[in-house]
Amino acid sequence: MLLSALFALLAAPGARASSDPDVSLDRGKKVYRDNCLECHGNEGRGDGERARRLGFKPRDFTLGSFKCRCTPSGSLPTDEDLLRVVTRGLPGTPMKGYEEALSEVDRRSVVEYVKSLSSSFAVQPTPRCLEVPAPAPSSDQSVAEGLQVYRLLRCWTCHGVEGRGDGPAAKALLDDWGNRIRVYNFTRPGRFKCGGEDQDLYRLLHTGLAGSPMPSYSTALVFSRESAGNLDGLSGAFSAAELEELGRYLAEQPDAAALRSMTEGESRALSDHRAWALIHFLRSLVAP
Ligand code: HEC
Ligand code: HEC
Repeated sequence: MLLSALFALLAAPGARASSDPDVSLDRGKKVYRDNCLECHGNEGRGDGERARRLGFKPRDFTLGSFKCRCTPSGSLPTDEDLLRVVTRGLPGTPMKGYEEALSEVDRRSVVEYVKSLSSSFAVQPTPRCLEVPAPAPSSDQSVAEGLQVYRLLRCWTCHGVEGRGDGPAAKALLDDWGNRIRVYNFTRPGRFKCGGEDQDLYRLLHTGLAGSPMPSYSTALVFSRESAGNLDGLSGAFSAAELEELGRYLAEQPDAAALRSMTEGESRALSDHRAWALIHFLRSLVAP
């Protein structure tokens, strides 16, 4: 309940943005020069002096493309999204959090400055957060269902059949800027870039990670028996027994006609049920 209240708060457009009179672009520019320029570069193109030696490409801010967002695929992040990254950093990358090194006013100011580096923020509408419902409790049954959803939605093509980040497509993946990108390994304990709570993962499944090959599954989660149904292509990756399991799961899913006659609330409930199951399954992969 508390978290959904928080998301409702964040959903207000421009929530709390720069309401502090000390937050300013000039201040943000100075904070940027002192702390961010060495990696993100003079004009924010991700080409700072340190960038080449990192093994990770710092984000090019001029493109207005950000991974950690509460907003739908294709949208800009909110101020709070950017603030969260600057505060907490992106685990598993050289982008560290500045919670201790910078005051909140400095962090909010640098967010304003980062936004000024891309024209997108001036021309696109104020982004709004997607709603994130309260998480469903995990059970053996939801983990088992999540495995079937993981197989049907072909998460394994990148993340691997056992979730080790070694799927058949993993080696060839590039991000939108042409750099090699590593697929997340679910067997390692929590180094999620955009937050490790169930709600963070739910949000991620619906927003995708812009600029990376990790897409949004908002639409794909609403599959019918038919639309997810062609199991032939899966025979290389799964055993006959596993395919049979998948077939049984699919047979219990609504067919296309049933899906069409659902109200918006019903299809949302179905999609949410699958999303939580998928998240419970991902959690079950973490090596003890
Ligand atoms: C040591 C180098 C380094 C420094 C210093 C650094 N960053 Fe980053 N930053 C990165 C890298 C690398 C990424 C991309 C990581 C990825 O996507 O895997 C990144 C990504 C980001 C993102 C994108 C987040 C998203 O959701 O896509 C933002 C915003 C950001 N940095 C802001 C800042 C700000 C503001 C500062 C200074 C206060 C800063 N960074 C300092 C290396 C750095
Ligand atoms: C086309 C390849 C591809 C497919 C298919 C794919 N992913 Fe990903 N996924 C990635 C890549 C690449 C990353 C790492 C992106 C990054 O670090 O910026 C990732 C990252 C993630 C993360 C970590 C997010 C974080 O905050 O660090 C989760 C969780 C995830 N994927 C879940 C899934 C699920 C569930 C599915 C299926 C419904 C799926 N992915 C399908 C490529 C893919």
